[in-house]
Amino acid sequence: MVMTMELQNKRIVLGVTGGIAAYKSAELVRLLIKQGADVQVAMTEGAMRFVTPLTFQALSGQSVFASQWDERMPNGMAHIDLSRQADCILVAPASADFLARVVHGQADDLLATMVLARACPLLVAPAMNRQMWENAATQRNVTQLQADGVHILGPACGEQACGEVGAGRMLEPEEILEELIAFFTPKLLAGKRVLMTAGPTFEAIDPVRGITNLSSGRMGYAVARAARQAGAEVTLVSGPVGLVAPGGVDRINVRSALEMHAAVLSRAASADIFIGVAAVADYRVANSAEHKLKKDNGGIPPIELVENPDILAEVAALDGGPFCVGFAAESRNLEAYAQTKRRKKNIPLIAGNLIQDGFGGDDNTLILFDEAGAHPLKPAAKSVLASQLIEHIAH
Ligand code: C5P
Repeated sequence: MVMTMELQNKRIVLGVTGGIAAYKSAELVRLLIKQGADVQVAMTEGAMRFVTPLTFQALSGQSVFASQWDERMPNGMAHIDLSRQADCILVAPASADFLARVVHGQADDLLATMVLARACPLLVAPAMNRQMWENAATQRNVTQLQADGVHILGPACGEQACGEVGAGRMLEPEEILEELIAFFTPKLLAGKRVLMTAGPTFEAIDPVRGITNLSSGRMGYAVARAARQAGAEVTLVSGPVGLVAPGGVDRINVRSALEMHAAVLSRAASADIFIGVAAVADYRVANSAEHKLKKDNGGIPPIELVENPDILAEVAALDGGPFCVGFAAESRNLEAYAQTKRRKKNIPLIAGNLIQDGFGGDDNTLILFDEAGAHPLKPAAKSVLASQLIEHIAH
């Protein structure tokens, strides 16, 4: 597998404040480090009641700062030095008290002083009891923080440590990681509406059997995630796959090519970009049975096939329709087949890959074909190729 580090060279100060969600920040550090980030942890007094600095030190590989009076910095200015080199300060969990202190520009502990002295963006992931979150004072504070340019991540709804259910849970570490990666991604598709297809289709023979293919949906889901991170509003029409939709993506589940066709065509006119990544079955069963076919019903059942509509070609033929991008998965003659397909479907751009390079796996090799010719991308993880495809589309 080709390694991808989506936060390589990013220096992140992770502030941890007092709350039971602090234990999840240990996992967050692990995820950030795995993505190549340099993580400096700063804790409040309250945070150290829940998790020890040693945990964060071991995971981040750097000693943790907690006191304004820490003598490790030669100039005695930990609050300045620690935040100056940072690409962002991320506070997770951010307690109600901490948010209130930031609103008022207080500098009564190291973390609050660093936040006040920062020259970089601030992101906070609030975590608190639902009543504390809903309290007018907290809501006022959050509104003020937003007005001051602070990025608020979450909170999520659900069961809380106190047993109550409601808004105020910290986002899960994976979700915070996704938000952070999105934060650092240039917003090349800001304000654009992207409609996409992904996965295989399933063409029923009877209620339990059907014709499908080995498309895992991974490439399409990676493209949906990359488009979302680039600031687009993304609708993903998905065939049956075992994948979780990327955060912030509107997923519409379909099964057959006809369902996919209907879901796409009813939305295509309002899209700016259409990307067809799905491996749509070329044919469906004309005589699919209402009831399960039985072996003892005499002979081999005849399966009659009819052609499915070409979704991509139809979208490309719409008057004033979206900018269309296709995918071509071939087992040989990639360039010739992909360019022929691109011209036949009348689309400006097609991404070609050899089935043996990408089907079902995490990595792929893509070549982009347009009127100017072929633009090969280096073999990489599907997430990296997806971002490169989005950049190409944006330009
Ligand atoms: O013609 P072929 O299936 O090889 O073309 C692949 C491209 O066309 C992909 O982008 C696929 O999503 C799209 N397609 C489609 N509807 C079909 C068949 C393919 O949108 N019925």
